[in-house]
Amino acid sequence: MSAPTTDRRADAAAQPIRKQRERVFSGIKPTGTPTLGNYIGAIRHWAAEQDIYDNIFCVVDLHAITVSIEPRELRQNTRELAALLVACGIDPARSALFIQSHMPEHAELAWILDCVTPTGWLNRMTQFKAKAGEDREAASAGLYTYPVLMAADILIYQTDAVPVGEDQKQHVELTRDIASSFNHRFGETFVEPRPIIRAVGARIMALDDPTKKMSKSEAEGSYISLLDPPAAIRKKIARATTDSERTIVFDENRPGIFNLLTIYQALGGGETPEQIEAEFAGKGYKEFKAALAQRVVATLEPIQRRYAELTADPATLDALLAEGAARVRPLAQRTVHTVKERVGLL
Ligand code: AMP
Ligand code: TRP
Repeated sequence: MSAPTTDRRADAAAQPIRKQRERVFSGIKPTGTPTLGNYIGAIRHWAAEQDIYDNIFCVVDLHAITVSIEPRELRQNTRELAALLVACGIDPARSALFIQSHMPEHAELAWILDCVTPTGWLNRMTQFKAKAGEDREAASAGLYTYPVLMAADILIYQTDAVPVGEDQKQHVELTRDIASSFNHRFGETFVEPRPIIRAVGARIMALDDPTKKMSKSEAEGSYISLLDPPAAIRKKIARATTDSERTIVFDENRPGIFNLLTIYQALGGGETPEQIEAEFAGKGYKEFKAALAQRVVATLEPIQRRYAELTADPATLDALLAEGAARVRPLAQRTVHTVKERVGLL
């Protein structure tokens, strides 16, 4: 027989964990070297706001295998990404950084959430439609339930807020719906998290086609990787699609130049669009692109230097990742224990 709801609610250990600060959780897939889009839309904010929040960041390798990926490549990408996050300023002293598969509780919670998530909700996910492509029947079941694993990542830590790029908004909203429906059915268990999506740079577009999102799974010339050498950065920006007009202004109807200006603004010191337009008034695309390339190179140069140092010492990186997992493990175990009690598995 199941216990009455009031008893379940009275279980103090099952209440959401109290925190001094709001907790943020975010994840990134080890599917290739992160792009400038990842940096501008997500990583730079994670790094900049570490003193505001209680921070948990995760390299989501279980999400990476929802599409086909070479084992050797996955292994290498995972460590490269962890090192790059530290190089971008994720400070292990202020943030827990770990590899998703090192915490089996995520997958355990995901299964339980799979069983309370209507397929109708998953059928609405636009990322699945985009990633599955033409042959939807051939897409893996993991790709289909991907958002539920993401919900488990977030809910397992009683996360308050999820800083992500625009493309992840729908997944965070689904996470809220899953949390809310679980709470309604089984008693208060999860915090309902909110997405944090920035006004500037939440959707950086491809350099060769500004109607598409910049993505590491697209053609080489379409994105700037965080490990691109200066010459490659200059070349890609010089070739970036613009238009046949002359003025350098923030006009959303001119997606190419708008995207480049957005990158310029995001990597700057807080100038307004008006200030940037004034800076380039009367100047040509060539001059603007050279200034942009310079700004991107200047941003990535110190990151690449730290990355080289970190990868020269793999033992330190491993220790840091193990420590990150150890720090969050008690939180994850506590949530999973509560959830199992709530649904009758314990
Ligand atoms: P992913 O590489 O898909 O795991 O994405 C990691 C984070 O980067 C997520 O928060 C994404 O929303 C964000 N992101 C990915 N691509 C872009 C982009 N082109 N512009 C802005 N943010 C992005
Ligand atoms: N789905 C996210 C992406 O493609 C990655 C991710 C997995 C994530 N789990 C997460 C992001 C939890 C935020 C919170 O970018």
